[in-house]
Amino acid sequence: MTQRARLPLSPASVADYRRLAERRLPRQLFDYVDGGAYEERTLADNVAAFGRVKLHQRILRDVSTVDTSATIFGETWKIPAALAPVGFAGMLAKRGEVQAARAAEAFGVPFTLSTVSICPIEEVRAGTTKPFWFQLYVIRDRGYARELLKRAHAAGCSVLALTVDLAVLGARYRDVRNGMGVALSPMARAKVAFDYARRVDWLFDVALGGRPLAFGNLVDAVKDAKGFSDFQVWINKNLDPGMTWKDLDWIRANWPGKLVIKGILDPQDARAAMSAVAPDGIVVSNHGGRQLDSVSATLDALPAMREAVGGKTTLFLDGGIRSGLDIVKAMAQGADACLIGRAWAYALAARGQAGITATLRTMKREMEVAMALTGVIKTSDITRDVLA
Ligand SMILES: Cc1cc2nc3c(=O)[nH]c(=O)nc-3n(C[C@H](O)[C@H](O)[C@H](O)COP(=O)(O)O)c2cc1C
Repeated sequence: MTQRARLPLSPASVADYRRLAERRLPRQLFDYVDGGAYEERTLADNVAAFGRVKLHQRILRDVSTVDTSATIFGETWKIPAALAPVGFAGMLAKRGEVQAARAAEAFGVPFTLSTVSICPIEEVRAGTTKPFWFQLYVIRDRGYARELLKRAHAAGCSVLALTVDLAVLGARYRDVRNGMGVALSPMARAKVAFDYARRVDWLFDVALGGRPLAFGNLVDAVKDAKGFSDFQVWINKNLDPGMTWKDLDWIRANWPGKLVIKGILDPQDARAAMSAVAPDGIVVSNHGGRQLDSVSATLDALPAMREAVGGKTTLFLDGGIRSGLDIVKAMAQGADACLIGRAWAYALAARGQAGITATLRTMKREMEVAMALTGVIKTSDITRDVLA
């Protein structure tokens, strides 16, 4: 059977959107989303961990009304899953971050805008009506970081997700193999250009219609950027490996809103975060397996993290969430809510805003079924009892 014949006529799951995205995107961009660090062991294990956890079927418990909503930071989310920050989403679909933010807002979950978005904060603000979250990488140029925080605050962003697992950049071998950020021979460059040129739908939508080479929030930092490589050079120079917990005072002093620390896997680090800044939330995350390969799957790390923070902060999990069943499993293991990364990125690449909306609806339906057949009707009732 050919690849074309296997494509779904009507995508049902995240895996289907992934296949559609693979067909639509230039290889460099698909692999940028789909890939992880080194041998991609952690990337695979994040997903596999959900397969290892089994649900526990229960019957005859009156599940005629199942409510998938959850209250997080005083807001009602339709399902306990926000859109994680995904850098360069505007390369996947025309003005991708605005499309994603709109889908999240209309559905009823938060959207997180990455520091390294294609659409700047102000454009996402203009395209939405409710506050969204902003994600920050702390960069050496604190003046620039402060400016970003001011812009996010002025745009009404309600939550700052501070990403702390990028002291140095993990090597992503697919990107190297595909020539991203690497000096290529003229022949190799021609091959890359040919691959971009033959993705006609992407070419018209993004390359011609989407101004994908203006690096949103970093336009003034990365002047005259011509592609990913220029940005990569900048980020390598600007990551701050010298950062410690003490530097978080600087964040508190410059950010008046809610603070979520993203990228903690170790219970001692979680306790250190609590004593350093008492964040409103912590995201148990390994950056979707894109940083240090061979670290634990986030679902495996979650129970010890919950034990470490008790009920003192809101605990999020990301990494490997591909369905509503996964969200239920994460909550059963101790998460208050989840963030989803690749799931929305594939959907955006394949079908734009409508794809993300459909994915969120599917996750809600999957949660309803998982909750009904494990015998719970409210997300606050999801405990270890729903696991086999
Ligand atoms: C293509 C891509 C780009 C990402 N960019 C960022 C980013 O800019 N900032 C950040 O904090 N995390 C970033 N992440 C990590 C996600 O926020 C999230 O932690 C991860 O995707 C969760 O795993 P999942 O993709 O399996 O859901 C990125 C992930 C992907 C796949």
